[in-house]
Amino acid sequence: MAIKRKTSLLKAVNTLTKTTDASDSPVKIALLGFGTVGSSVARVIAESKLPGIELTHIFNRNVERKRASAAAKCVPASVVWTENFDEILNSGAEIVVELMGGLDPAEDWLKKCFAAGKSVVTANKQLIAYRGAALSRLAAKHGVQLVHGAAVAGGVPVIPGILQGLGGDQITRISGIVNGTCNYILSRMETGAEYAAVLADAQRLGYAEANPSADVDGFDARAKLCILSRIALHAELDPDAVATQTISTVEAVDFAYAKELGCTIRQVSRAQMDAKSRLVHARVAPMLVPLTSPLAWSHGTQNMVVTSGKFGGDVVFSGHGAGGEPTAVAVVADILAVAQHSVAVELPVRRREVTGEFMAPHYLRFVVDDKPGIVSGIAGTLAKVGANIDSLLQRPGYPKHKLPFVITTEPCLTSTIEKAVAAMAKMDCMLERPLCLQILTLDDKAE
Ligand SMILES: NC(=O)c1ccc[n+]([C@@H]2O[C@H](COP(=O)([O-])OP(=O)(O)OC[C@H]3O[C@@H](n4cnc5c(N)ncnc54)[C@H](OP(=O)(O)O)[C@@H]3O)[C@@H](O)[C@H]2O)c1
Repeated sequence: MAIKRKTSLLKAVNTLTKTTDASDSPVKIALLGFGTVGSSVARVIAESKLPGIELTHIFNRNVERKRASAAAKCVPASVVWTENFDEILNSGAEIVVELMGGLDPAEDWLKKCFAAGKSVVTANKQLIAYRGAALSRLAAKHGVQLVHGAAVAGGVPVIPGILQGLGGDQITRISGIVNGTCNYILSRMETGAEYAAVLADAQRLGYAEANPSADVDGFDARAKLCILSRIALHAELDPDAVATQTISTVEAVDFAYAKELGCTIRQVSRAQMDAKSRLVHARVAPMLVPLTSPLAWSHGTQNMVVTSGKFGGDVVFSGHGAGGEPTAVAVVADILAVAQHSVAVELPVRRREVTGEFMAPHYLRFVVDDKPGIVSGIAGTLAKVGANIDSLLQRPGYPKHKLPFVITTEPCLTSTIEKAVAAMAKMDCMLERPLCLQILTLDDKAE
């Protein structure tokens, strides 16, 4: 086994070493997908005139449409445009850059590239979240590389930063804002705008899809959280097992209450390893974050990831998490790394079970038809599950028949507070299901 691995690595280095001598011809690159990121990658390669690499092929369905587009103007005349994947497979391209997205046919085509001795660079977060570990093993078996630095946080070098820069630390916790659409919506709501109006703006600006579920319900972010868990915690998670909570139930009034508590609200993706059980505690949800936390400072489509290491402490990565050009920068950096046979840091990754359980204080917002006895009813329900009230806030100026007010709790388990919320939702006075948000504290723990 060890000999086989050594042979694979040697083959990879040999394959790529021959291309680095200045007298050698440049490493040939093929692009799969000429969309937002693919066309930006072609432009960055053309305009930056980077030595040692040459774009030779572009693949896309209905390729003539792409070839005739304005984005194609920067593409050198020597580039072969094709809609036949086999032409890429049989070409002299040594690095295939997959920028189509989705699992199918990308997964199958990557496998074919590896078998044909081609390394792959991709920004495909779904593919890497669901199949990344197996694909990396397959690439190594074939003596080629699979690099995906742009799959999380677009242009922010969080993946190479963790792999190369923090490989020597034991990262115990990651938390971040990895979905620019949610950050745009929530940071606009911070200034008083309503969710529906901001979502409509996000759709008009092209930040959100017509069906925004993947972003606002947390599915995009959880794919990225699983990639980060693999890179930082060396834990392979099943993305479908990671708990998510939608941001669509957060209202403008919640920002007013959050401010009174010294916080704002962000969609936070967090994961941490339990030192004893080796369970990974992971969750993607809107959370109250202290105004003093770096996570509160990110606005608009900005992304931010904070890692906490046993030896090196906290490290913050921040910048443009999406968009053609920022993402293309990360993709081209990966292409250069593979072309210059810079060896990626690899540490063993284990499959880990995941739980959504955290020990944290919670924010509960109720909208009630006000009557005497409501607060004592809520307090009784919380006491029954063993949760203690920390504070009660009620802003003036709301009608008594539709009154929003807030209770915060002392730290308790997620499952405990969920049990209480389920019971409170059944109270006659409740006009809607209470909103329950975790309050992020700087020293909170998973349980
Ligand atoms: N956009 C970003 O800011 C960003 C940031 C980080 C990561 N990413 C990742 O980068 C990848 C590309 O994203 P993008 O925004 O560039 O997407 P996009 O604009 O939709 O581009 C995808 C391109 O691939 C083509 N394509 C898709 N499936 C194909 C198939 N089966 N056969 C042939 N051609 C196919 C599409 O052709 P049609 O035009 O015919 O659909 C399109 O030209 C995705 O994995 C995405 O998650 C994107």
